[in-house]
Amino acid sequence: MVKIFRWLVVLALCINLKAESYEDTQTLQQEDNLMTNRTILVTGGAGYIGSHVCYYLQQQGWNPVTFDNFSTGHRNSVRFGPLVEGDLLVPDDILQAMVQYQPVAVMHLASFIQVGESVKDPLKYYQNNVTGMVNLLQAMRDQKVNYMIFSSSAAVYGNPVYTPIDENHPCHPINPYGQTKWMIEQILKDCDKAYGLKSVSLRYFNAAGAAPAQGLGEAHEPESHLIPLMIQAAQNNDSTHPLKIFGQDYVTRDGTCLRDYIHILDLADAHLKALDYLQRGGETLSVNLGSGNGTTNLEMVQHIKNLFEVDVPFKYADRREGDPAVLLSTYTKAEEVLGWKPTRTIEQILQDAWQWHQKPKDE
Ligand SMILES: NC(=O)c1ccc[n+]([C@@H]2O[C@H](COP(=O)([O-])OP(=O)(O)OC[C@H]3O[C@@H](n4cnc5c(N)ncnc54)[C@H](O)[C@@H]3O)[C@@H](O)[C@H]2O)c1
Repeated sequence: MVKIFRWLVVLALCINLKAESYEDTQTLQQEDNLMTNRTILVTGGAGYIGSHVCYYLQQQGWNPVTFDNFSTGHRNSVRFGPLVEGDLLVPDDILQAMVQYQPVAVMHLASFIQVGESVKDPLKYYQNNVTGMVNLLQAMRDQKVNYMIFSSSAAVYGNPVYTPIDENHPCHPINPYGQTKWMIEQILKDCDKAYGLKSVSLRYFNAAGAAPAQGLGEAHEPESHLIPLMIQAAQNNDSTHPLKIFGQDYVTRDGTCLRDYIHILDLADAHLKALDYLQRGGETLSVNLGSGNGTTNLEMVQHIKNLFEVDVPFKYADRREGDPAVLLSTYTKAEEVLGWKPTRTIEQILQDAWQWHQKPKDE
């Protein structure tokens, strides 16, 4: 009887050991899959920044899958991986994309981005940006996709109380667009606590430049960003339709607003560095992406004149409400935590943007 009992104990131990080693193997396999899975779902991959991110990801050996509804994106920019045409406001669209491609991470760039429009029609922004994000997070939770890199914005800070702005600066967004970004950052923190979903919110300052050799550049409709508007003014050289520079009596070097520009490919690189940080066990955080160097509107005109030997017809207009004099960021935290810093100058940004604007565009 004692013998039989001993055998039963040994048998039970063996089964247990086998079960544990099976579970260990499973866990190791899952971890291995996470490290070898090179698929990233890029929402908004047909947009200005998203298409450059997809190009960069593919170049670095990743498989970017664009998820886009083409509300503002361009079909001919989706050339660096598969496309899922879908809308974040349709929960099944995003769930099916997640099921089909089983990405290791999501880079979430899809959003409406016009500040002025968000003031006139805030619900359009809360619905697309916030509800769309909630649908996306639900699909991620469902499919156990645990890493998110989110396109946040300097707009979360509102009017600067000091410059350069670092991540300790208070966040008081002054328009619905900025509010949506701030709300999403809070949602992401809650999702980390509740579901262990890890994220990096990248607070971009001004994304600029292009990848002209890849036929990629900035083409928003309507365009509200300074560099494309300035280049268009220079290329049209029509003094009856000059570029408007809003305000000439700000407290800056020359009275015009000062902004912080980052090359679009430096920005793309930050996305991969952020993912690497999360995959190495990094905690959820928000981080600024800026250059630490500002350019005023008037300096930008001068740069374009010097670089391309052209005139930039412009006239001064009244200040716009909600335009701070200076928006300038540090990149200390990005360098410390992600190992990222900008590598391209404002001249490089302008050279690339100029070259891209020279080419005829096709939709
Ligand atoms: N451009 C900048 O300087 C800047 C600065 C700060 C933050 N950002 C953020 O970066 C991101 C990308 O900006 P961008 O300049 O490339 O804008 P963009 O308009 O060129 O790209 C946005 C893309 O998202 C897609 N999209 C929008 N709503 C969608 C939905 N419901 N479902 C599926 N796709 C949808 C659009 O079709 C478009 O392709 C945005 O989140 C924006 O808020 C941009």
